[in-house]
Amino acid sequence: MKPPLSIQITALGSYSPARVVTNDELSHRVDTSDEWIKSHTGIAVRHLAAELETTADLATKAVENLLANHGRTAAEIDGIVVATATPDYPGFPSTACLLAQRFGIKGPALDISAGCTGFIYALEVGRAMIITGAMKNALVVGSETLSSVVDWDDRNTCVLFGDGAGCALLESRQEQEGILDTYLKAEAAGAEALVIDPKSRTIKMDGRSVYSFAVRSIGQAIETLLKRNNLDFEDIAWIVPHQANQRIIAACAKRLGIDVQKFYLNIEQYANTSAASIPLALAEMQEKGLLKEGNRLLLVGFGAGLTYGGTLLTWHQY
Ligand SMILES: CC(C)(COP(=O)(O)OP(=O)(O)OC[C@H]1O[C@@H](n2cnc3c(N)ncnc32)[C@H](O)[C@@H]1OP(=O)(O)O)[C@@H](O)C(=O)NCCC(=O)NCCS
Repeated sequence: MKPPLSIQITALGSYSPARVVTNDELSHRVDTSDEWIKSHTGIAVRHLAAELETTADLATKAVENLLANHGRTAAEIDGIVVATATPDYPGFPSTACLLAQRFGIKGPALDISAGCTGFIYALEVGRAMIITGAMKNALVVGSETLSSVVDWDDRNTCVLFGDGAGCALLESRQEQEGILDTYLKAEAAGAEALVIDPKSRTIKMDGRSVYSFAVRSIGQAIETLLKRNNLDFEDIAWIVPHQANQRIIAACAKRLGIDVQKFYLNIEQYANTSAASIPLALAEMQEKGLLKEGNRLLLVGFGAGLTYGGTLLTWHQY
């Protein structure tokens, strides 16, 4: 009998728009300061899309980066799952279909809406669709142009967000373990805490309630995934969290009683890029040579919905 399929991330790509905006630049627009933003969030700069650059444009560059980095071609890709809160079109067509058109990909293409947990949800949708046979492989993308929905006059939110895209190719392999477990949750009671207001089309957020939800939910996702797989913190090489606020991660590490160095953080350079933050971080880790054969990784996300969840996987070099 054949062993069960293991679904693995076999390639990564990313793209950050060229325009870099500093905290000082934002302080000319709203009553804030570099000191406040750094000390309350850990953010130093964010990348923002050019005026006509859309979520599909950023995603296209990230996919091109994946193909070039790994010597792959678009013809090898079957299906596409895009996680985004800022699609090019508000209803349809999906951003995934725009990508399919650009790369000549003919398999299933769909978008996922799960806020900043979007990439974790999209990985699971891609994995499941490979297992059922709906897709041969899945290009899983997180891409956002949050700058298009930020209220640039609201200092409570405008300093927090950035634009970017990251992507992962999911493929089945028989010989090695890959994605080991996924944990997905939605806490509907918090739905109003973080919204894109339909009238103003801008982000409205109850920062304090999202903060405490985030610390609690990341901890729960991590502990659940470790416990039900009989693993300990020492078995995990890296926890790769959604990058929303350095203080959230520090508080979570303290709550779990682990060294904050276990978490990979790059929020300083990108701010919160929502569904793009985890694949952006993974691609950067790969570029820096931090992902080693056999490493166990825990990806954890939280965000609007309120949603949260995590993916436990073993990393393989391809
Ligand atoms: C938004 C956040 C950084 C605010 O930090 P905080 O320490 O909780 O700050 P508070 O909400 O207690 O506000 C403290 C003061 O700072 C002010 N403030 C908010 N943003 C500011 C800014 N950019 N510059 C200066 N002051 C600011 C507030 O107006 C408030 O002033 P007040 O006391 O006079 O009313 C924090 O709540 C947070 O990170 N929440 C989670 C947000 C998030 O990650 N969302 C996305 C999830 S995917």
